[in-house]
Amino acid sequence: MKIGIPKERRPLERRVAVSPETAKKFTGLGATVVVESGAGEACGLTDDLFRAAGAEIASDAAAAVGDADLVLKVRRPLTEAEGGPDEAAMLKSGAVLVAGMEALQNAAQVGDYASKGIVAFAMELMPRITRAQSMDILSSQSNLAGYKAVLDANEHFPRAMPMMMTAAGTVAPARVFVFGAGVAGLQAIATAKRLGAVVSATDVRPATREQVMSLGGKFVAPDIEESGDGEGGYAKEMSDAYKAKQAEMIAEALKKTDIAITTALIPGRKAPILITAEHVKSMRPGSVIVDLAAEMGGNCELTTPGEVTVEHGVTIVAHLNTASRIAADASLLFAKNLWNFLSPHIDKESGELKIDWEDETVTGTLLTRDGQVVHAQLKGEG
Ligand code: NAI
Repeated sequence: MKIGIPKERRPLERRVAVSPETAKKFTGLGATVVVESGAGEACGLTDDLFRAAGAEIASDAAAAVGDADLVLKVRRPLTEAEGGPDEAAMLKSGAVLVAGMEALQNAAQVGDYASKGIVAFAMELMPRITRAQSMDILSSQSNLAGYKAVLDANEHFPRAMPMMMTAAGTVAPARVFVFGAGVAGLQAIATAKRLGAVVSATDVRPATREQVMSLGGKFVAPDIEESGDGEGGYAKEMSDAYKAKQAEMIAEALKKTDIAITTALIPGRKAPILITAEHVKSMRPGSVIVDLAAEMGGNCELTTPGEVTVEHGVTIVAHLNTASRIAADASLLFAKNLWNFLSPHIDKESGELKIDWEDETVTGTLLTRDGQVVHAQLKGEG
C-alpha cells in the first residue's frame, strides 16, 4: 500500500498530516509512505526527519499522491475555483482520502469526490464515543487552540496577567472570562489560571459547571432552568428567554472583564452571538476579546474573521485556524489521530487497507464510496 501525503496549500495552513512518528508506524506495517518535499517545513518537520523515519520524499504533490492508495491531508482538497491546483483531480479512482473535510459546509465538493471514485473520510465527523477520543481531530486541535488563544490575548493586552506585589506598587491580576467551556474553553481556563489570571466561565451545558470549578475557575450562568445539552455531547441552540437572561448576565460580567475568550459553537450552525456591539462598548479600553469561533462567524458581533481590529478601544483578535498557529504540536497530534483511526483497518499480514465498513468510527466519518455520497447527514437523513 502506498500512502501519499501532500503539502497543505491553503493560505495560513502550516500543519502536515503525517509526523515522523506516524510515518515510522505506517512503514512498520509494510506500507510505503511518500511525503511531498517541504510538506512539514512550515512546522519544523524537515524532509530529512521523514527520510530518517523510513518515508520517501516526492518532488511534487502529483508524485506524492498520484498513485497512492491512501492519501492523508489536514484540510479538504483545494479546488480550481479556490485558486487551485485541483488536488482531488490528482487522486486515482479508488483512492482513500482521509482529512478534515468541512464536509457539511462543502456538500457539492463531496459529490465531486463520489463522481471521481474517491473513498473520502471526514475526520471532523468522528463520533464522540469513548473509543474514538484518540481519533478526534476536533479535540486535539481545539485543545491547542484554547491554549494559544490565551497567549494571543496576552500579546495584545497592555497589562500583566498575574498579580504582582512590588516595591513600586501592586499589579492587579487580569480578569479573564471564557465563553464556552468545551475542549478549547477548558484549556483556555487552565492556561489563564497558570498565568495567574482570575478566571470565570460560562456554558449552556450543565456538566461544565463542575469542570470549570475543578480548574479553579468561577462558573457563571443565567438564572434560568434550561439545559443546553444537544446531540453527541454538543450544545443546542437555546430559547429566546435563555438568550435574553444570558445577555444580561454577560453585560454584568464584561464590565469586570479584561480578557474575553469566546469558543461557543453549535454544530452545523453559525456561531451564536454572545458579545454584542453594546457589550464591547461597555468594556474598558485596553481590554481584549479573542474570538475562537471566528471561523463560524464569531461569538462577538464586531468580529471580523481573519483580522485583528480595535473597536471602542477593545482589541478583537479573530485569527482563523488558530491550531495552525501552533503547527508543530498540532501536526503531531493530528497525525496521531489519523494513525489511531486507520491502523485498526490495516491488515497486519499484507500491509493493505482492509476497512471494517461496519465500525462506528467508519460509518460516522465515511462520506463517499462506490461513486455515491453515503453519509447520512449529507443525504439529509441525519
Ligand atoms: P464545541 O466546540 O462544539 O463548543 C464549545 C463549547 O461552547 C461547548 O462546551 C458548548 O456547550 C458551548 N456553547 C455552545 N453554545 C453556547 C452558548 N450559546 N453559550 C455558552 N456556551 C455555548 O464543543 P467541544 O469543545 O468540541 O466539546 C463539547 C463536549 O464534547 C465536551 O464536553 C467534551 O468533553 C465532549 N467531547 C467528547 C469526546 C469523546 O467522547 N470522544 C471528544 C471531544 C469532546
